[in-house]
Amino acid sequence: MKHKLFEPYTIKNLTLKNRIVMSPMCMYSADDQDGHAQPFHLAHYESRAAGQVGLIFTEATAVLPEGRISHEDLGIWDDKHVEGLQEIVEGVRRHGAKAGIQLAHAGRKANLQDEIFAPSAKAFSDSMKIPTAMTKDDIQRTIKAFRSSAARAKEAGFDIIELHAAHGYLINQFLSPLTNKRKDEYGGSRENRYRFLKETIVAVMEEWDGPLFVRISGEEYHEEGNKMNDFIYFASEMKSQGVDFIDVSSGGVVPATIDPYPGYQVTFAEKIKQGAEIDTGAVGLITSGIQAEEILQNERADLIFLARTLLRNPYWPKQAADELGYELEGPRQYTRAW
Ligand SMILES: Cc1cc2nc3c(=O)[nH]c(=O)nc-3n(C[C@H](O)[C@H](O)[C@H](O)COP(=O)(O)O)c2cc1C
Repeated sequence: MKHKLFEPYTIKNLTLKNRIVMSPMCMYSADDQDGHAQPFHLAHYESRAAGQVGLIFTEATAVLPEGRISHEDLGIWDDKHVEGLQEIVEGVRRHGAKAGIQLAHAGRKANLQDEIFAPSAKAFSDSMKIPTAMTKDDIQRTIKAFRSSAARAKEAGFDIIELHAAHGYLINQFLSPLTNKRKDEYGGSRENRYRFLKETIVAVMEEWDGPLFVRISGEEYHEEGNKMNDFIYFASEMKSQGVDFIDVSSGGVVPATIDPYPGYQVTFAEKIKQGAEIDTGAVGLITSGIQAEEILQNERADLIFLARTLLRNPYWPKQAADELGYELEGPRQYTRAW
């Protein structure tokens, strides 16, 4: 049997050694409360690279201090963050993996002491702050922050940038009719709701010519939310702008009960892949090599993103290889155990 999970994957000018991706995961461990990478982050990312994951994404990394989910998020809003991020990239590269960074702004889901911002002055829930509705100046300042963060990501040596447009964070708040109640050209029709992401992509691409991924929520679990035809529209627009890849997750826009089951989001990745003819990533309760192989072989998605399963087992690629009967090369230092 061919093992697609362990086949290289080329996107733009970059080749990943396999199709296994560490999905972005907030670790709330920037203990200085000023966004700097700590020894924990270095060990955390490098160990998954040693485990033979092909592409490692950092957690949601904030483009502005008010765009953090918590005071302990990683940041990239200042040049002083570059050095720590560079060390993460070097650690990941030592094991032949590639390094991606997820650029993020939490919008109304920022759980901070300070003023928070969103497209409209509507809180996520009763227990969360009411955000300030962004002025056009706020919008332009935020887009500029995405742009300068992309320049810093390049300086730190990252191979891929992913824009976080999922899980109800700022970009998603613009995209969704559930959270965007604006009356200006950034709200209303889906063309208008897409405008913030569109301008962000343009700004990022002024600094970044490497592979550009965007993570979206491909289901909002609300009858008045965006539907699959809207996501296909957004993905097609992104493709025409030069975005290379859509990483398809779901939820987080409004409080909703989700009943997850193995591969529960794969169908969204598959529909967007077919509908917009763009490569996609599948994520969500993918835990076995056979499951991952099925998704790839049936061309339902192009990369497999893993989150919690890699927290449990940094050597998951080895586990999957054993399951599939594939001989995976391990770190030289671990040969006697491999
Ligand atoms: C601890 C933790 C932190 C997360 N932080 C992020 C994040 O920073 N950005 C993001 O896009 N998704 C985040 N997620 C979602 C994961 O990337 C992933 O989409 C989700 O956990 C489903 O995959 P899984 O079933 O393999 O865990 C996080 C998930 C976990 C468990």
